[in-house]
Amino acid sequence: MEKHLQHPVFKALANIAKKHNIEAYVIGGYVRDIFLQRPSKDIDIVVLGNGIEFAELAGAQLKAKVAVFKNFGTAMLKLQDLEIEFVGARKESYRSDSRKPIVENGTISDDQLRRDFTINALAISLNEANYGALIDPFNGVEDLYNQLIKTPLDPELTFSDDPLRMMRAIRFASQLNFKIDEPALKAISKQKNRIAIVSKERITDELNKIILSPKPSLGFNYLFDTGLLKLIFPQMANLYGVEVIKGKGHKDNFYHTLQVLDNICETTNDLWLRWAAILHDIAKPATKRFEEGHGWTFHGHEDKGARMVPQIFAQLKLPLNEKMKYVQKLVQLHLRPIVLAQEVVTDSAVRRLLFDAGEDIESLMLLCNADVTTKNEYKVKKYRNNFELVKQKLKDVEERDKIRNWQPPITGNDIMKIFGLGAGKEVGIIKNAIREAILEGDITNTYDDALQFMLLKAKELGLSPVTH
Ligand code: CTP
Repeated sequence: MEKHLQHPVFKALANIAKKHNIEAYVIGGYVRDIFLQRPSKDIDIVVLGNGIEFAELAGAQLKAKVAVFKNFGTAMLKLQDLEIEFVGARKESYRSDSRKPIVENGTISDDQLRRDFTINALAISLNEANYGALIDPFNGVEDLYNQLIKTPLDPELTFSDDPLRMMRAIRFASQLNFKIDEPALKAISKQKNRIAIVSKERITDELNKIILSPKPSLGFNYLFDTGLLKLIFPQMANLYGVEVIKGKGHKDNFYHTLQVLDNICETTNDLWLRWAAILHDIAKPATKRFEEGHGWTFHGHEDKGARMVPQIFAQLKLPLNEKMKYVQKLVQLHLRPIVLAQEVVTDSAVRRLLFDAGEDIESLMLLCNADVTTKNEYKVKKYRNNFELVKQKLKDVEERDKIRNWQPPITGNDIMKIFGLGAGKEVGIIKNAIREAILEGDITNTYDDALQFMLLKAKELGLSPVTH
């Protein structure tokens, strides 16, 4: 493995280890990522002794500032673009009510044994006797080749020691397209309730990593099948299932949502657009009705869904900022291009869509494309063709009318000035009427047209311009 320790920092650390007679190893994700050919900037060093003292020796030698985390017994230094973390080898047991470990000094094998997965328990020696040797007591390399997430210890112990590892197992499986070893999977199902002691932020961090993986349905299927999803994000688990009345069923909205999510991942790496895919049908269970003679309907699920977004973001400790508003807007509008694509596409409908979606129109079109999951090839073709038509119209209308991020040519202030009005109902009525007339295409999007139209409208309201 020596050829993988090209960076001079490894030799420097090896010299410190030799000089002070302390054993040191590179361990964890950095070693795993060598095998996965994913160059990494985070290096974890484990020493048989005091990690903080070793870090301070390293800091002095490398002329780098050391950050010490006394409570965790770790220390970190930054060197160019590398982040190097030091810890003493541990032999740990965890308390059942918290994730904070009780630490004892251990050997390198003790330390490897207490790590989460065999693929994360690989170490490379920095010691003179066997510099560069791979130390792999739990066959982590074999599991990497077999694409298997497996725990070094009995999985029940590994997960009850630190329940966040249940999320990590699923996250690694999703990121790497690995399988979770059967006993480990059973242990997650059994211990799922222990997730309650993990902070929401940590859970959501892992959830976001699953969402950002190439095919998130892999992770979500594991979350659902183990029962974790119901605990951490019940609204999504509720999408599961098909009800049948009088021989009529509806599609399973959980698997549909996963399909939409996988679809959108082929066109975007944006976390929030991916969230919009997850949430686009979130209100279907709450709005589901069986209507005689018609079948299943989900009227208003886009409105109710948009209203559910802030509460879901708060519950998952996602940011309650413009990202949330973006997701909310996409959920609200997700049916609009489809409806458009089913009908004759009029200019005014396109103008309205552009006005409502503003700068998020491209995201909305991507979401709608991803939302086409029917197996009926004829329908897929029809939708895709119509979408192309809508896209072309959007382009034409945008070029002509510049509706995106549009402000009507006459502002509320203008109206107040022209008619000598204070802020009030009439200003809103006139403003709305101008906007509607432009969106409908009754008048052009110009000041002169808007002024003429406004004077007429004002007359109807019994208003006349004040002369200055
Ligand atoms: N680890 C663990 N249990 C945890 C978290 C981490 O055993 N709950 C160990 C693993 O050996 C892991 C190492 O600590 O490889 C470093 O953890 P971390 O930096 O969180 O993850 P990486 O494995 O480096 O992977 P990534 O950077 O993708 O999160």
